[in-house]
Parts: sequence; C-alpha cells; structure tokens
Amino acid sequence: MTPLTIAHLSDFHISAEHRRNHIRRARRALEYARSLGVDHVVVTGDITANGDPADYRIARSLFASAGLLDAGRLTVTIGNHDVFGGVHTAEEVLTFPGHCRVTDDKAKVREFGYAFRETFEHTLRHSDKRLFPFAKLLGDVALIGVNTVAAHSRFKNPIGSNGGVDDRSFELLVELLESPLLLAKRKIVVLHHHFCRMRDVLPSAAHSVWGAIERQTMKLHGKARLLKLFSRTQVHMVLHGHIHVSNEYIREGVRFVNAGGSVLHDRSDDLHITILRVDDAGCRAEIHRVPAHPLSLPQHASLPAEVPQAAMQQFAA
Ligand SMILES: [Fe+2]
Ligand SMILES: [Fe+2]
Repeated sequence: MTPLTIAHLSDFHISAEHRRNHIRRARRALEYARSLGVDHVVVTGDITANGDPADYRIARSLFASAGLLDAGRLTVTIGNHDVFGGVHTAEEVLTFPGHCRVTDDKAKVREFGYAFRETFEHTLRHSDKRLFPFAKLLGDVALIGVNTVAAHSRFKNPIGSNGGVDDRSFELLVELLESPLLLAKRKIVVLHHHFCRMRDVLPSAAHSVWGAIERQTMKLHGKARLLKLFSRTQVHMVLHGHIHVSNEYIREGVRFVNAGGSVLHDRSDDLHITILRVDDAGCRAEIHRVPAHPLSLPQHASLPAEVPQAAMQQFAA
C-alpha cells in the first residue's frame, strides 16, 4: 500500500470570546503537524467552543493559513461543543441546560458542514443533505466520519455532552462499512466520543462528586453495538477526542486513539500531537509532546504513546 501519515488532533475549543489562548495553541499544533510534512490532518470534534459564526471564522482561517481547507488534506468531525456549546461563565451554569433544550441540533450540524464545506467534497454519503456518516478515500485508506453527538434529552442528555448514534445513522454506517468500495481499504473511523471508562484515563473522575457528575454527562450511549460493528467490519482503528487526554487503548479487539489532549491536555501544558503512520506494516501511533511556546518549538521531544504498550488493556464494559 501507499504509506500515509496522518496528524490526529482534537478539541481545539476555539472561541472568539473566551480563552483566546486556545487559538494560539491550535495554531501551534497545526504548524507542528505541517512542519512534519504529514499527508493529512484529522480533527475529531469540539473544534469550536460554542459553534458560533465568529468561532467558525477563526477556525477556518487557522485551517486556511495551514493550507488545509481541502478534502485531500483535512477531515473533520463534529463534537458536542460544536452543537450545544459549553459553559464559560458562572451565570451560564444556570442557563446552559435551557440553552441545550432549545438548540436546533440539526441546524448546528448544517452550520458545521458549511463552515468546513471544502473538507466534505468528494465524500461518499447517503445524500447531499446528510453530512454524516461519510467515507473519504485516501489511496488505500478509507476515513469514515460519524456524528456521535446525541440529541438533547432532559434525562439522558441534559447538557448535550453525552454521545449516541441514532438508528438511521447507524443503518447508514453499516451500509458504508460493508460497502464493496471499502473492501480492500484500511478503515479508520473518525468520531468524537470515547469508548473507554473515564476513571481509567482520569483517576480524578473516580471518587469525587464532580467525577460522578462528569461520568453521567460524558457517556456514549449504544457503545456495545458500535463496538460489535467495528469489530465485525474489521475497522482498523477508531480516532476520537472528547476526554482531554491523549492515549491509546483496545476494546473488543478494536484499537482506539484519543487525541483529546492535543491542545488542551487536562494534566499538562504541552501540546500532545498524535502522528499515525499507516503502511504495509500496520498503523503506528506516536504521541509527540510539544512545548506550546513558539521559542521552544524546535526542541520538541518525540515520545512514544503516553500509555505504554504494556499498559494497553481490554477495558471491561
Ligand atoms: Fe472537548
Ligand atoms: Fe466533547
């Protein structure tokens, strides 16, 4: 096969209004990927903090400056922040559930698609009206984009951060993964929500009250059927974000790479840029730990995956 190098980034949380240092960090991450001469960049959701037009304008200009507004160079998928936004001020803690309740999630998906329209060109989709799921063929690799942002539900998804794939999208995903066009391809699924248990990657979430709330509001519903599908259709790897750490793990024989900590790592100020090398030997993931400050960029250290191979484990359900 023709080798392919992919930079996997996630969770930029770009905002025109809040925490503008995220813009600088995202720019640095893209510059770093560019300096390595990667073939393709994948960003697995939460590209913006609120999915506002001004946020998208900034994100577009970052991708354009890096020469990435092109389907052959960039693949993006949507995250919960791109649809429902997030809480940024004390007052918003009280108003946010109401905001999620009235959010038109379908309209937000359309806005996301329009903001990054060039990257969806020439993708295989059920129809032009449906953005997800899609498949993008890059030589011997097929990237399959899935929207895992669940619709608002007063009890199951009160603040919009839980995940899920509705039945119709699941059916279309089955069709895509079973398509003869993908038969000889290395299938890499690209989505936002995680398949690991939060307490395995964020020990702080294990015992505190806040951790318990986080576990209830950071779930992917319907994980089991997705896992079964990925395993049956021989998905090579699943790329995601959502939890802001970077790691690699295996579930039900399927390999997962989380780049949620690429720009906003929960435990470190450094950027954690995941580089995937896909070739005849398989697919290797390296996490490059890069100081966020431009002056120290040339001194970057390239480290193996944050979770050592020996620690990779089959997480229990
Ligand atoms: Fe995020
Ligand atoms: Fe998220």
